[in-house]
Amino acid sequence: MTHFGVDYYPEHWPRERWPIDARMMREAGIGLVRMGEFAWAKMEPVEGQFDFAWLDDAIGVVAAEGIQTVLGTPTATPPAWVIERNPEILPVDNTGAVRGFGGRHHDCQSNETYRGHIRRIVRAMARHFFANPHVVGWQIDNELGNSHRSLCFCGSCARAFRAWLRVRYKTIEALNQAWGTVFWSQTYSTFDQVPVPLPTPNSHNPSLLLDWKRFCSDLIVDFQRLQVAILREECPRQFVTHNYMGLFDKTNYCDLAEDLDFIAHNQYPLHFRKDRYPVAPPERLAATLDLMRGIKRKPFWIMEQQAGPSGWETVSSTPRPGQLRLWTHQAVARGADTIVYFRWRTCLFGTEQFWHGILPHSGEPGRRYDEIKRTISELAPVMDRLGDGGQGAEVAMLWSYEQQWAFQVQPHHPDFDYVAHLMTYYRAMYEARVPIDLISERMDLSPYRLVIAPLMFLMTPELEAKLRAYVAGGGHLVLTMRTGVKDRNNQIIPHTLPGPLADVVGVRIDDYDCLWGVSQGVRWLAEGSALAGPCQKWCDIPRLEGARPLALYTTDYYAGTPAITENAYGQGRAYYAGTELPPVVMKAFMAHALAEANVAPLVATAPEGVEVARRRGRGADYLFLLNHTGTPVDFRLPLQWTLLIGPEPTADAVLRLGPYEVATCISA
Ligand code: GLA
Ligand code: ZN
Repeated sequence: MTHFGVDYYPEHWPRERWPIDARMMREAGIGLVRMGEFAWAKMEPVEGQFDFAWLDDAIGVVAAEGIQTVLGTPTATPPAWVIERNPEILPVDNTGAVRGFGGRHHDCQSNETYRGHIRRIVRAMARHFFANPHVVGWQIDNELGNSHRSLCFCGSCARAFRAWLRVRYKTIEALNQAWGTVFWSQTYSTFDQVPVPLPTPNSHNPSLLLDWKRFCSDLIVDFQRLQVAILREECPRQFVTHNYMGLFDKTNYCDLAEDLDFIAHNQYPLHFRKDRYPVAPPERLAATLDLMRGIKRKPFWIMEQQAGPSGWETVSSTPRPGQLRLWTHQAVARGADTIVYFRWRTCLFGTEQFWHGILPHSGEPGRRYDEIKRTISELAPVMDRLGDGGQGAEVAMLWSYEQQWAFQVQPHHPDFDYVAHLMTYYRAMYEARVPIDLISERMDLSPYRLVIAPLMFLMTPELEAKLRAYVAGGGHLVLTMRTGVKDRNNQIIPHTLPGPLADVVGVRIDDYDCLWGVSQGVRWLAEGSALAGPCQKWCDIPRLEGARPLALYTTDYYAGTPAITENAYGQGRAYYAGTELPPVVMKAFMAHALAEANVAPLVATAPEGVEVARRRGRGADYLFLLNHTGTPVDFRLPLQWTLLIGPEPTADAVLRLGPYEVATCISA
């Protein structure tokens, strides 16, 4: 099986050009294309009249160069005739306004009429392509949930929400109880009275809002399942996947993964709009990849890897020479099996005219083509020898969509952000060069020596028992601020925090402080340490009940009370961090926790800006060194590693990595 592909849109180019593209792909080492995911109008120009001949032709043209095909179901782009016939399919936004045709996913995913259209096109496609030996698999739809950020609030979705609530609560009395609707006279006498959360004069009930987020996620999972079921029935030989958007939070990606053979992800380090990082920090890219690997704890695909500047109305910076290669190595280092570049050639029309592919508008291969060709030729042989994608991580961090949603409903501090908080821990591990798995709280914790479980705000008896058993059995666990505050319905649990886990961490919290308009500091306690800095957003103020303090708050009425604590419990150890820590204190805290858990870094030192990752291969380990900076750095290769890819070391084993340069080593 090939490890490299491109996203190809034959419908955007004249037929005469296809063989030229296919030849150039093959010459670059590309063995796979993804096609078809937006071509509904071409596949079904009139209801029930299918035209797959052009796609058969395109599959044949690339197959003649030895290139396989992954087909996308085109359900993100219902054609104009579908909307003309059934305008009730159009989605309603969170102001109650109907969104029109154009763009993508101008549809309501709960709408049964729309689902009827979906069943027809997906089944027809599946029946047409199941026996094509060049079609190896399917991508369902495209970036599910993306276009639906604040959609859909239509009548169909309201009915689906109520049906979902009926399954969850059985009776309206149980819902009233679970949501606490006695507050502000919101008591419902029937499910039909329960609203979708359109704007109201004041805030909505937090329990309703959390259930709405769960429902929206389940709706997308169900929408995907509808298509997966058809493909499983018709195309048992072909795999089924979906292209994720990394840290995107609208859909519970763990749930979405359950129906897929493996997950795929779209990795775009450069962004073109004001609402995101123009250039994603390398550790954020690394965390994204670690989560994509952690969701199924197995290798994944990159279905869209940045291949040039991105842009719609505005345009990102251009990838620096070396960066396309660097990002490819990074994805492989952190568990990608196959890299598919978006896109082959830059389109001449439509919304994505400035979303650059490997080839520029002219179609003439240039700098980006050469760099990707080189990357493929050096990396493909290494990828042949990689195993299951594991990093051999001894540390895990729990990544929870439910906790994230609960904090979106009530962030406490106006600037609080779930992902940013988790990144304070992730960054410390990344900088310590310690591999970490980002996994859901449903996963088995026993492979790990140290588990970081931030913001376990919603607590259930099952989660509590799991964390307790992990520590009792010898695990080291980090719990943090706002642990055990709520039940699964988003109601406060009337206990002293952190609730039943108090004896595990050896502290109780009877007081807390939101750092909104006030400031606080934290000082690391180790002897002779002068490490201190301002903490952020929130402070839990713990009282010791058996734990020992590792750091103290520095000012105000709770100066001198513990900010971080450590407690022996059973065979293991539990830490409690009461606030969002300053980087210097976080670094000391994680160094301490790693040492106590007996976890060693991959390398003792590495220059700043150099990412270090390890991937377990068949019979050997592979070490990836990635210079994310635009300046050269020197690195001394430890003896156990032999260089496979990278610049020649000097006589005294110093590797000089140029700007954005990479090196790959194999264990001796
Ligand atoms: C996303 C989509 C692609 C394309 C690119 C560029 O990742 O999956 O179809 O739209 O962005 O905008
Ligand atoms: Zn709807």
